[in-house]
Amino acid sequence: MVANTSETNPTTGFFTETNSVEAVNARMGEDVSPRLREVMSCLVKHLHAFAREVNLTQAEWEYGIDFLTRTGQMCTRERQEFILLSDTLGMSMLVDAINNRRPIGATENTVFGPFHVEGCPVREMGERICLDGKGESCLFIGRVLDLDGNPVSGARIDVWSDNADGYYDVQQPELQPKWNNRGVFVTAADGRYSFIGIRPVSYPIPDDGPVGQMLASLGRHPYRPAHMHYMVRADGFQKLVTHTFVGGDPYLESDTVFGVKQTLVAPFTKLEAGETHWRSDFDFVLAKPTDRG
Ligand code: BEZ
Ligand code: FE
Repeated sequence: MVANTSETNPTTGFFTETNSVEAVNARMGEDVSPRLREVMSCLVKHLHAFAREVNLTQAEWEYGIDFLTRTGQMCTRERQEFILLSDTLGMSMLVDAINNRRPIGATENTVFGPFHVEGCPVREMGERICLDGKGESCLFIGRVLDLDGNPVSGARIDVWSDNADGYYDVQQPELQPKWNNRGVFVTAADGRYSFIGIRPVSYPIPDDGPVGQMLASLGRHPYRPAHMHYMVRADGFQKLVTHTFVGGDPYLESDTVFGVKQTLVAPFTKLEAGETHWRSDFDFVLAKPTDRG
């Protein structure tokens, strides 16, 4: 005789340990959209399998609920702790990879991050974006191209980076000038872009909340390797959200949000003469909406 706590009860359909997935998913109404049905029934299946596989204790479940509650309570308009959780669990990069499969030769996407600000002023090519006078200046230069190597005209390149102290302007609104280390540049027929920023520095993601505590308990550091953010949009092409990383950065292989891709590590060359300290060359290659990898 099998204990009735772990057997499906075909007469009542009540919830048991073994029929848990079917019991929950069977409650869905008939008019639920097919995609919602697929996503939710799969989520329930994997969630229950996880609890079963690790033999989740009541105390662990309560800890998890408390952790998620604190994560939600940490969220404000400026601070999205749930996205940080997704980023540090590799989920943001996985969803990004699933949705941005590109042919070889097209620039790869990476994590968007929480520090982009819409509405940054358009600047002249070659203009300086570092407004606080800190850091080692760097000329960022290259072209926006299509997969056949033709220049892309009218591409809008939105760039943003931390300052030399490792903070974005929005993290220090009282200390940094508005739009510090940000700019939007629009390419002409030659597809060329250039601007003067700083050689970015590595920095920790905000780690004074539950996600920081999680990283510490797991023996993980909160650092991202130095990078410059880019979002490149042009009519007739897929939107590109990416970074270039500073070659040689000590955190390249342990980025806390898993954003590094080999093809995005850019050269940063020290300049011996002139006012600008560094130069970094990088071409962005855009894919058409129908180009898939
Ligand atoms: C960033 O690179 O700006 C970033 C990405 C993910 C989490 C936190 C920061
Ligand atoms: Fe960043």
